[in-house]
Amino acid sequence: MSSSSPAKVSVLISGSGSNLQALINANKSTPPTLPNVTFTRVISDRASAYGLERASAANIPTSTLGFLPYKSRFPDPSGSLPFQQAREAYDADLAALVLQDKPDLVVCAGFMRILTGAFLGALEKAGVRIINLHPSLHGDLVGAHCIERAWKEFEEGKRTKTGIMVHYVIAAVDEGEPICQREVDIEGCKSLGELEERIHAAEHVLIVEGSRKVAEEVMKNKAN
Ligand code: GRF
Repeated sequence: MSSSSPAKVSVLISGSGSNLQALINANKSTPPTLPNVTFTRVISDRASAYGLERASAANIPTSTLGFLPYKSRFPDPSGSLPFQQAREAYDADLAALVLQDKPDLVVCAGFMRILTGAFLGALEKAGVRIINLHPSLHGDLVGAHCIERAWKEFEEGKRTKTGIMVHYVIAAVDEGEPICQREVDIEGCKSLGELEERIHAAEHVLIVEGSRKVAEEVMKNKAN
């Protein structure tokens, strides 16, 4: 796709943004391992996310959309989990914010919110693909704290491997079709910290591979 116009990519984050940094670096490297991509915006649900600073340093526009005001607007009668109405109102606004830039692709890189149909439906209607990085193989561990859970099972003698994947986002959490995945050996790691390091290093490669694959496909379809 080197001669076509660049794919416009928006990235959703919540924290450190080391995977965002991997994407930025891959786009800038010589030769780029993520060519023909332009970053339209980085959006965080947390104002303190270090990834926002990484984005600004790379001259990528940033926005923050926090969930707290939505929680206050739609209080959960049971006072426990975030109320569905609040989640949907947040997701509708998030979709509107994302779509303002008319991206071709949205990459969730450590975005720690579960997206509802209010977001996914709006993006589907606009023809925008959305992918996510997840620290487990498809069909294995889903949800939060997968690295910790894999480590615990390793310590209990129940597993020797875990993995990572980049997958399309659907309403079922971490169950969308995988784009690429890699096994990661747990053996040889002496602590949870070492496993985390090993997984993050592998993620920084895989997120580039997954984003490149989908960006190329999206732009090819657009050209036809
Ligand atoms: C990654 O491990 C990702 O798989 C998980 O959150 C982490 C994000 O790290 N969902 P970073 O913010 O990209 O450094």
